[in-house]
Amino acid sequence: MNYNLIKAPNSAEFGSITADIFCQAISDTVLPKVILPTGETVRDFYAALRAKKPAPFIYVQLDEYKGLGSQDPKLFSNWLARDILDPLGIDQRMIFKSDAPQPDLETQRVSQWLNNSGPVDLAVIGIGSNGHVGFNEPGSHFDQSVHVQTLAAETIRANKAYWKYEGDDFPSQAYTLGIGDLRKAKKTILLVKGQEKAAILQRALLGDMTVDVPASYLQRQAGLTIVADSAALSLIG
Ligand code: PGA
Repeated sequence: MNYNLIKAPNSAEFGSITADIFCQAISDTVLPKVILPTGETVRDFYAALRAKKPAPFIYVQLDEYKGLGSQDPKLFSNWLARDILDPLGIDQRMIFKSDAPQPDLETQRVSQWLNNSGPVDLAVIGIGSNGHVGFNEPGSHFDQSVHVQTLAAETIRANKAYWKYEGDDFPSQAYTLGIGDLRKAKKTILLVKGQEKAAILQRALLGDMTVDVPASYLQRQAGLTIVADSAALSLIG
């Protein structure tokens, strides 16, 4: 397995180091296609990137809840818009239509877009505590493309926490790019923070390459950079 591992000494540096690596990774491409994730891990990175103002790119959405209205503040597309895309003036966005009346047609539309546009230049991804990437939950095949995914119970729990939501009426399904799409990315940056990710990071990188740990596809991913804090790396050394 071949990757570039960068250990970030603290949160602020995690953000600025990642922003530097991000800008470097897209510096040789005009209007690159870039996947960006949502989640707690990326907050410092987005703060640093807002200050750095990178060259324009085409944003490609990684995943999105299924079935929410277009104005719902919980939509990942709205989160990303607020946090990074609007502040940077990125207006070319390939985003899922959460409320598409025919989900099959929506997955086909996005697959088609990816096929027509060519491989993504840079995929920035996180990892869930159960090893998911995007919303590819354990069991997702490594050759799968865009699909609707039923969310694991712990994923729903973690996602409710983003919104401090305690009710039952939370999306149980989501659209996601597949691992097959992510494997085509020319470059990948994996961001990992916190002790609670240490065990799954160890399994993903050093355990079997298996659909039980979707992020283990990274073991064969060319052009991979990992930025992690020391807590996340505590079992790897
Ligand atoms: P987190 O989410 O950054 O909020 O931990 C990462 C993920 O689930 O992919």
